[in-house]
Amino acid sequence: MIDIRRPDDMVRITTPELADAFIEEQIALIREQVGDKKVLLALSGGVDSSVVAALLIKAIGDQLVSVHVNHGLLRKGEPEQVIEVFRNQLKANLIYVDAVDRFLDLLAGVDDPEQKRHIIGEEFINVFAEEARKLDGIEFLAQGTIWPDILESEAGIKAHHNAGGLPEDLQFDLVEPVRILYKDEVRVVGEQLGLPDNMVYRQPFPGPGLGVRCPGAITRDRLEAVRESDAILREEFAKHGLEGKVWQYFTVVPDFKSTGITDGKRTFDWPCIIRAINTTDVVEVTVEHLDPALMDHLAMRITTEVEGINRVLYDFTPKPPATVEYE
Ligand code: XMP
Repeated sequence: MIDIRRPDDMVRITTPELADAFIEEQIALIREQVGDKKVLLALSGGVDSSVVAALLIKAIGDQLVSVHVNHGLLRKGEPEQVIEVFRNQLKANLIYVDAVDRFLDLLAGVDDPEQKRHIIGEEFINVFAEEARKLDGIEFLAQGTIWPDILESEAGIKAHHNAGGLPEDLQFDLVEPVRILYKDEVRVVGEQLGLPDNMVYRQPFPGPGLGVRCPGAITRDRLEAVRESDAILREEFAKHGLEGKVWQYFTVVPDFKSTGITDGKRTFDWPCIIRAINTTDVVEVTVEHLDPALMDHLAMRITTEVEGINRVLYDFTPKPPATVEYE
C-alpha cells in the first residue's frame, strides 16, 4: 500500500457537490487498485466502516465481502440495522456472524477491565480470521482508517491497528478509501452515499462496546439491562431534541445491588447510571445538565421498563478526574 497522504491544500469536504466529486474519484481509484479481485471488510456498523462499505459496493459491487461480527456487546437494533441497510437495501455480499455465545462464554467471570478488553479484541480477530479462511480468492482488506488515525499513530499517541492484527497467513493489501478524510468529511460522504442519518451521525461507541458499560464480570442479565436502558436513553434524547446536540450519552449498570420497593414488595436490584457529556477534544469533557422533568421521566421509564433496575443515578463528573467510559 502506497503511503497516500492528505494534500495540504485539499478543500474540506463540506457540501454534497464536494462529496460527489470525492466519491467519483475514489470509485475510479478503487477499481484501478482492485481490478476484478475480491476485497474483505470487517463491517461494524460504525461510521467509518459503513462509509467504506458503501463506497466499495458502489465501486465493485459483490467483489466486496463484508463480515459483520455480532459479539453480543452491540447496542439494541445495531446488528439488525447493518443487515437491513447493507444486505437488504445496498444488496451487499454480507456475512453475518452470530458470535454472541462465544464472546459471552469467554468473558464469563472475567472482571479485570484490561483482560476484558483484551479478550474482546482477540476473539474478534479469531472470528474474523475464521471467516476469512473460509473464503477463496480474497486479495485485499478494506479498512475505515481516517486521517486522524494516521496523524495519531505518527505522533505515537495511538497504535494504528493496521490490518486489524490478522495472523501471518492472512496478510492482504489494504484498501483505505477514506484515509485522507477527517471524521466530519466521512459523514458528509456517507450522507451522499445514501446511508441513514442515525448511522452517519451516530455518537462515538467504543470497540469493546457495552462490555465497558457493564463493569466487572459481564452477566447476560446485567448486559441486557445496559442495552435496554441505553435504548430508552437514546429514544428520549431523540424525542427531546438532544440527539446530535449532546456529544455522547449512555448508561452503565454497575455490579452491585440495593434495596428498593415495587408494588409494596421489597426488591434487591441494580442501579442504572446515566452519563451525558460534551467535548471538543475528548481530553476534557463537561457534563450535560439535563432538564429535571426529563430526568424524572428517565428514572420512571428505566425503573419500570428495564428488568433488574430499581434506581437511576446521574453521573455529574467531568473529565478529568473521571474518564468518559467506566473501564
Ligand atoms: P475515555 O473513557 O478514555 O473515552 O475518556 C474517550 C472516548 O473514547 C471512547 N473510547 C473508545 N473508543 N475503543 C474505541 O474505539 C475503545 O476501546 C474506547 N474506549 C473509550 C469513549 O467512548 C469516548 O468517546
